[in-house]
Amino acid sequence: MPQLYTLYTPEEIKGAVERLAREISRDYQDKNPLLLGVLKGSFMFMADLIRNLDMQVEIEFVALSSYGQCTESSGRVCLVQGLNTSIKGRDILIIEDIVDTGITLNFLLEYLQSKKPASIKICTLLDKAACRRVCVPIDYFGLSVPDVFIVGYGLDLDQKFRHLPGIYSVGEEI
Ligand code: PRP
Repeated sequence: MPQLYTLYTPEEIKGAVERLAREISRDYQDKNPLLLGVLKGSFMFMADLIRNLDMQVEIEFVALSSYGQCTESSGRVCLVQGLNTSIKGRDILIIEDIVDTGITLNFLLEYLQSKKPASIKICTLLDKAACRRVCVPIDYFGLSVPDVFIVGYGLDLDQKFRHLPGIYSVGEEI
């Protein structure tokens, strides 16, 4: 069992989620957007975010994977489960738990753009900007994280620790 160190408490995450929900509610008030969660990592953030929204919303999910059992991105994104509904003409808001290298989102943007939505924006709870390898336009972000491996609040290490209510660094105290 690796040592975990608290990076963000559940209360700090709650504050960030509420702020993001206010910003999104303000910007999409009359738009009926489709919130697109990127599984698996975003499931907890998505659930908390939509409970704080003050507007009509529809949700869908895609499942992408690039880390497998590793702590570093393989650089190859696998579309585990694609869309099974049309997004043509829709305003899409991608919901991610974390943007790290940007490779996953870059892949997803290309995939979505081919399906002719009206707009695509990106909301991520966590931004690990120091590790970016591909530039992706982030429209809403909650909290910065340093270049350490993190788990909790949906994020895993070999599928473990997703259930934890806070966000923790693995093996390195910040
Ligand atoms: C994680 C995370 C993001 C992606 C970000 O997913 O949920 O989708 O990596 O990394 P990147 O910016 O370097 O591409 P992962 O591939 O671990 O799958 P999971 O969500 O099922 O855990």
